Amino acid sequence: MARTYQTDDWDRYRMDYGQPHRALEPEEREVAVVDGALAALSEEGILPHTRYDGAKFLAHREAVAREFEIPWTAITPRMQRLLYAINAIVRPANLIAAGVFCGNTFISNAGAAVGPGACYTARQLVGVEIVAKEAERAERNVRRIDPTGVARVVADDAVDFAAKFAEPIHLLYLDADGDEKRGKGIYLDILQAAWDRMPAGSVVLAHNSVNCAERLKDYLAFGRDPAEMRASVNVIFDGEGLEVSAK
Ligand SMILES: C[S@@+](CC[C@H](N)C(=O)[O-])C[C@H]1O[C@@H](n2cnc3c(N)ncnc32)[C@H](O)[C@@H]1O
Repeated sequence: MARTYQTDDWDRYRMDYGQPHRALEPEEREVAVVDGALAALSEEGILPHTRYDGAKFLAHREAVAREFEIPWTAITPRMQRLLYAINAIVRPANLIAAGVFCGNTFISNAGAAVGPGACYTARQLVGVEIVAKEAERAERNVRRIDPTGVARVVADDAVDFAAKFAEPIHLLYLDADGDEKRGKGIYLDILQAAWDRMPAGSVVLAHNSVNCAERLKDYLAFGRDPAEMRASVNVIFDGEGLEVSAK
């Protein structure tokens, strides 16, 4: 069943893409908004519970602000917290993040298992970026807070990478903007390439469920079809949005 979690201020809560670390609201408000989203995901059976370590999240946020080179990002502080929390709760052994640009989105996911925000041990957390120079920068950024290599960035097409990844995929994060023809419509191609290695209970996160809803029409129809996905929630607390689905 598809459902929406929407705050009344989602269209007034705006960030400057060039100022990724600027606080946009009191921390208590950010925590409350994200807690509301986690509760909706738990009610739908996508998450087993809603608990994560807020102090570890803040250590993660601080390390990214200190160590990452981020030319721009559309990941709001609310979204950064939600991505971290979902990963801290789901604890994916293997994660693929598709279209990671400078790595900020990737580490918002992977930071639950590596660096100062780590709260569990993962096997393989892979960010995939098709532009080689961006992949290099993302890899440099990630390496500054994860010397282990559990989290890594590869320069590849996310459809090809998802198709050849040989292990189960427990969490798939979709953010690639594709080519001129497909645009964000590429999400469905990436999901289909990964599908047969995604076990029951695995989670798919699709960024831009609000501002790219039209381009994501086919993907969203698939994710919200109970014959394909067990449950799906559109989290609308900023202008980008995140569709969270469970297989
Ligand atoms: C818009 S960026 C994501 C930025 C992210 N939402 C943020 O706010 O930081 C999308 C990225 O997907 C990459 N991309 C596009 N097609 C791809 C593909 N087929 N495989 C992997 N990456 C791809 C682009 O090069 C770009 O860096």
